[in-house]
Amino acid sequence: MAPTFDSQTLDAYVADASARIAAAGDLAALASLEAELTGRRSSLGAWHRELGGLEAEARRELGRLLNEAAGAIGVALAARRTSLSASERTARLAADRLHLDELEDLVAVAPLERGHRHLVTRTRDALEDVFVAMGFRVEEGPEVETDWYNFEALNIPPAHPSRGMHDTIYVDMGEAESIVLRTHTSPVQIRLMEAAVRDGSLPLHVVIPGRVYRRDTPDASHLVEFHQIEGLVVDKGITFADLAGTIRAFTAAYFGEDIDARLRPSYFPFTEPSAEFDITCTICRGAGCRTCSQTGWMELGGCGVVDPAVFAAVGIDPSEWSGFAFGFGIDRCAFMRHQIADVRALTDNDVRFLRQF
Ligand code: DAH
Repeated sequence: MAPTFDSQTLDAYVADASARIAAAGDLAALASLEAELTGRRSSLGAWHRELGGLEAEARRELGRLLNEAAGAIGVALAARRTSLSASERTARLAADRLHLDELEDLVAVAPLERGHRHLVTRTRDALEDVFVAMGFRVEEGPEVETDWYNFEALNIPPAHPSRGMHDTIYVDMGEAESIVLRTHTSPVQIRLMEAAVRDGSLPLHVVIPGRVYRRDTPDASHLVEFHQIEGLVVDKGITFADLAGTIRAFTAAYFGEDIDARLRPSYFPFTEPSAEFDITCTICRGAGCRTCSQTGWMELGGCGVVDPAVFAAVGIDPSEWSGFAFGFGIDRCAFMRHQIADVRALTDNDVRFLRQF
C-alpha cells in the first residue's frame, strides 16, 4: 500500500503547526492546539497508524521523518508554553500589586486601635507606686482561702455577721473547714506574718493589692468582684500616730495636697483601736455636695492598730512588736478620683467608657 504522506506533506504540516502555535494567545488555547496537532485524532496520529501497513524500508524512512516532525512540533509547543506562562505570571503579579494610593480610603475608615491598661489596673499601679515610695513592699496572696485565714486568725468569731451566707461566697462548706472566696485582702496579713515568723524576717512593711469577692447584689456602688489594697506594718514601737501620718501622707500623694484625711472611731475584730478613714470629697473638694451628702467627706476604708489576738494567732510576741493595718477599695479610689457615677461601668467593658481613661 502506498503511503498517503511524504516529506513535503510533513514539512508543510510542521510549518502550519508552528505558525498556529506561535499565534496561540494563552495557555488554554495552546493546550487545545496541542491535542489538535499531535493527539490520536490528528494527522500525525493517523500517519503513525499508517506506518504499520508499509513496506519495511518506507516504514523506516517515513517513521524517522514522522518522529522529526513530531519533535519539531513538540519543541515549538514547549517554547510557546514557556513564553506564555511567563507573561501570564507577570500579568497576575501586576494585578495583585497593592496600589497604596488607592488604599487611602480604607486606611481612613479602619485605623489600627491601640489598647491600654484598664482603669482599675492603672489605679492599682498608681497606689502601689505611692506606697513603694513610702517604703512598703508589694505582696499578693490567694483568692481562694480557708476559714482560718479569712476569718478565724483575724479574730472574727463564728457569730460575726461577715461570716453569714449573706456576703461570703463559699466554695466548700466542709465539715472540718470551709473554703471561701476571700471577702477581703486581710487574710494575706496572716500569711505574711506567719512567713515572717517562720524565717525570722520581721519587721514587715507591706501593701497587698488584689481581688476580693462578696455575695452582694451589684448596684451603683457595689460589685460582687472588686479590688482592695491592704497595708500592714509590724515593727517596734509602732503607734496609732504612725498610722494617721501614713494615711495622711498617702492621701495627699495620691489625691492631691488639697485633699485631707480624717479618722473616725470604728470597730474591726482584727484591730484595736480601729477607725474608718474619710477623705475630703473629691467632687466638691470639701464644700459639700450631693455625692457626699453635704458633709464634704467621703469614706475610703478601715484601719487600726493590730489586735494582740491577731499577733497571738500567728505567734508574734505583742510585748516586743506592734503594728498597724489598713484596707480600702481600689475600685472606690478610681471612682472617686475620676468621679464615676456607677462602679458597674468598671466591669461592663464598654470601650466608649474605658477609652476615656
Ligand atoms: N478588711 C476590711 C474590710 O474589707 C477592711 C480593713 C479594716 C482592713 C481595717 C484592715 C483594717 O487592714 O485594719 O472591710
